[in-house]
Amino acid sequence: MNDQVFRSTAQLVTQVVDEIVAVVQQKPDATLCIAAGDTPIPVMRELARRALAGEVDLSRVRFLGLDEWVGLTPQTKGTCIETLTTHLFAPAQISPRRIHFFRTDAEDLPEEIARINDFVALHGIDYILLGIGMNGHIGFNEPGVEVTAQAHQVALAETTKRVMRKYFDQDFPLESGITLGFAQILAAKQVVLMATGAQKAAIVRKTVRTAPTNQLPATLLKLAAHPCRFYVDQAAGQELE
Ligand code: F6R
Repeated sequence: MNDQVFRSTAQLVTQVVDEIVAVVQQKPDATLCIAAGDTPIPVMRELARRALAGEVDLSRVRFLGLDEWVGLTPQTKGTCIETLTTHLFAPAQISPRRIHFFRTDAEDLPEEIARINDFVALHGIDYILLGIGMNGHIGFNEPGVEVTAQAHQVALAETTKRVMRKYFDQDFPLESGITLGFAQILAAKQVVLMATGAQKAAIVRKTVRTAPTNQLPATLLKLAAHPCRFYVDQAAGQELE
């Protein structure tokens, strides 16, 4: 895992978007997976801006969902698909046919999981942008996760349930999520983990200093097939040497 501290969040965002654009220029039908959550929103917006400005053609890109809360419709404000739609898919006019997310309001969740597993087996992931949870989770891969897991349904950790309130207008009684598994994440051609803000400083330090363990899922990214890049801004990197 190569960690890099950026002088400003804006520089970090520019770096990530430059990398995504380079991937798409090389492979117009690349599969991109961008985490939801607050951290990557500036990346989504900048990518949409460049698409609208004609600086990158996203029309053939396949957008793969990383994870989703179980039990909410895709229109619910705060879901992963709603976040990506608001900040990237709608402004960049991405065709729904190019968007491959878990439908967690589907009746048959195992069928949904199988559908996404088949998609990843067929297309792989060219670039995955991840965020880190306050407990070190990646996607909804919570502490204790199997490193060999494919997409699966998980019980949300208590920390995740506490933090999730920031995403929603209402107090939903959510208990589980569906997430891509580490087997799929670690096989991606490029893996980038980004963290911004002082609230992430402690978990960033712990992740950098700890050997791979499933008790701190972010450390498992050190096992990625292609070395994971860990991009942090100064606030998130303040406890690093
Ligand atoms: C969201 C996701 C989560 C978040 C993480 C950090 O799709 O996969 O793992 O990346 O919880 O969330 P923020 O960015 O809101 O701090």
